[in-house]
Amino acid sequence: MAAIEERFHLTRPPQEDPPSRSVVLEGVREAEGMICTLTEGIDQEVLHAATRLRVIANYAVGFNNIDIDQARARGVVVTNTPDVLTETTADLTWTLLLATARRLAEGHQMVQSGNWKGWSPNQLLGAEVHGKTLGILGMGRIGHAVARRATGFAMPVRYYSRTPLSPSQDSEGWHPVSFESLLAESDFISLHVPLTAETIHLIGRRELQCVKSTAILINTSRGSVVDEMALVEALRNGQLAGAGLDVYEHEPRVDPGLAGLPHVVMLPHLGSATLATRTKMGLMCVENILAVFEGGRAPNAVA
Ligand code: NAP
Ligand code: GLV
Ligand code: GLV
Repeated sequence: MAAIEERFHLTRPPQEDPPSRSVVLEGVREAEGMICTLTEGIDQEVLHAATRLRVIANYAVGFNNIDIDQARARGVVVTNTPDVLTETTADLTWTLLLATARRLAEGHQMVQSGNWKGWSPNQLLGAEVHGKTLGILGMGRIGHAVARRATGFAMPVRYYSRTPLSPSQDSEGWHPVSFESLLAESDFISLHVPLTAETIHLIGRRELQCVKSTAILINTSRGSVVDEMALVEALRNGQLAGAGLDVYEHEPRVDPGLAGLPHVVMLPHLGSATLATRTKMGLMCVENILAVFEGGRAPNAVA
């Protein structure tokens, strides 16, 4: 905030809670630059109201909340925050993977509630992690960082992305496979694709029928990459053993069917949530806005 206040006139001081739609529409009217979060839908209506706007700095790496074509058509630069959150989000992905496999939430609840009766041989038996096959859907920045961490757990990695990796990006123990093989062969499936017209409901009823019944799905990408209703059904039918979720189709609403299920660990979209990373993301937004105001190229322009 100090970096912002030093250089810009703020039309709206930031608030912790997401702004209402009318606040966004009002706020963009005078603004030449905007920092927004992934909860703000920057669509045609907002862009139409933003007659002076030159740059939108999205405080996130994913930018599916912004109508990129409309922004481009109006000459508004859009930027995001890649790289600075990659390792932090990969850490959280592993937090969810381990927590789901080893039933952390149920164990915590048992101890905290005072219902723990003591050690016993069959208590809260979980899934093995080490040595199991990790499937990564979307082998980009975060996908790579998640795959690198698998080495310590001696886990072979299978991945699927549209573009093959160059030999310099590839690593021993990582194997490109078809989408179908990834679904069929993985013990853990971790999603790292952006949300696009192509990836919406990439994991739906048909795909969940192809996975091992012992498999665990981890989603730290975007909720709508998974058909949440199909996920609930697959977990209920035993087609899938568990799910670790950071993101949901209709945040902050969560399908009530998910809430009651065991073997599901749910976090409130915390992928990049450390102070160090959020600070870097903020400074990156400032840097991008300044670049545009100074007539240069925004370093993280996506449109
Ligand atoms: P990235 O470097 O662009 O990686 C995305 C990967 O997905 C690329 O390898 C891309 O490769 C692949 N991909 C795109 N479309 C695909 C498709 N249709 N089928 C298969 N693969 C596809 O992005 P990133 O920085 O790793 O971030 C990934 C996403 O994570 C973001 O877009 C965001 O939604 C999410 N995220 C969430 C959190 C959180 O808080 N939970 C934090 C950060 C990021 P090809 O184009 O070659 O296929
Ligand atoms: C968070 O979800 C991001 O895309 O940065
Ligand atoms: C468990 O705590 C063990 O010592 O095996």
